[in-house]
Amino acid sequence: MTSLPLTPTSAAHGVLDCHYFDEGLCRSCTFIETTHIDQVSNKEAWCREVLADHSPDVWLPAVVGADSDFRNRAKLAVGGSAGAVTLGILDQDFHGVDLRECGIQSAQIRTVIPTLAGFLDHTNLDPYDIKARRGELKFVHVTAAPSGDLMIRFVVRSQHGLDALRSRRDQLIELIPMATVISVNLLPEHKAVLEGSHEELLLGDSLRMNLDRVDLHLRPQSFFQTNTEVAIALYNQVAEWVDEISPSSLWDLYCGVGGFALYCAKESDQQTSRTVTGVELSEQAIESAKISAAELGFGTQSGTTVEFIADDATEFAEANLATGERPDCVIVNPPRRGIGARLSAALEESGIDHIVYSSCNPLTLAKDLDRMPSCTVERAQVFDMFPHTKHLEVAVVLRRR
Ligand SMILES: C[S@@+](CC[C@H](N)C(=O)[O-])C[C@H]1O[C@@H](n2cnc3c(N)ncnc32)[C@H](O)[C@@H]1O
Repeated sequence: MTSLPLTPTSAAHGVLDCHYFDEGLCRSCTFIETTHIDQVSNKEAWCREVLADHSPDVWLPAVVGADSDFRNRAKLAVGGSAGAVTLGILDQDFHGVDLRECGIQSAQIRTVIPTLAGFLDHTNLDPYDIKARRGELKFVHVTAAPSGDLMIRFVVRSQHGLDALRSRRDQLIELIPMATVISVNLLPEHKAVLEGSHEELLLGDSLRMNLDRVDLHLRPQSFFQTNTEVAIALYNQVAEWVDEISPSSLWDLYCGVGGFALYCAKESDQQTSRTVTGVELSEQAIESAKISAAELGFGTQSGTTVEFIADDATEFAEANLATGERPDCVIVNPPRRGIGARLSAALEESGIDHIVYSSCNPLTLAKDLDRMPSCTVERAQVFDMFPHTKHLEVAVVLRRR
């Protein structure tokens, strides 16, 4: 049996001091004045209320990680002026608020922000001015792996900004030796989004996220859970549940770069043969998942077959179920909108015995559960993926009645 790296509520104590919050400069961490342990109790209570019509046989104790230094990804808005940038958020008048000491970001991210700000100052590029629709620098995204390796992405308005950063590539690499991926993303449109579709790589192509048992590979636009410590606990817990179910075939729908699929594949051995199929819309994420699978030796190892397919989750499920392909167990981990009416209906009618549903939105989870009346919730557990905010991850194990 896998032991969790975190004991339930082990790190949950105290109130995190934040001078940005106290001074009214940033209110992103809405619940920062509540003790972490109370935040988690409140979230659990709300989650139980939302899922009241599907009351699980067992609510397992919430899994709680650190209350500071937990975010592996910072999405920093660039403000200020050329030669004196701020990195953080923009206030309601679109003025930059520098948050370089923000305590929820990982220490590696905090350490690199002053270097990034100094570098951008040196370029003399103008931060993008939302009101005037002028300027270049929009955002800097920084992702940190447990090893300390970093992925740095600059989001700029135009080719001019991209050229200016590309010409300073060597300087950047020298300044930030921990960066294994550096890229520039073009966002010419005046839109309230964090990135555009065009990305030019200046260094590397993927960040190796060295988790406890699996290395995942993140490309610049791939999704990854924002809290590495709690994500590891979630993957291990789901792998443990899947091992108890002991399916010989498993689908991981909305698999991203393959976290659930690879943790569950790892659980099998020569005696337990298991076929694991990960399905995800992003072709880049699927390429990354295939690299991790190859590194782990799947494909060559007898007993376990792991495949990753770029497809829409609903279309994949409908098409395979229609031809009689039915796994013993399915994991779903959709975006906030949930799996929706079509996939819920397909799973409801499928006869599949077990479904593990990991959700970042209990409201859409409840709706999807309404659409699968043949399934009963055996177990549920909250994972405190987003401390100090109202958000949470909840994982449930469903069994056909
Ligand atoms: C909450 S993330 C989960 C990713 C992954 N399970 C993990 O733990 O990192 C949701 C994923 O669903 C993918 N996605 C969104 N719409 C999809 C669709 N219609 N079909 C398949 N995947 C989709 C996104 O690209 C994203 O990687």
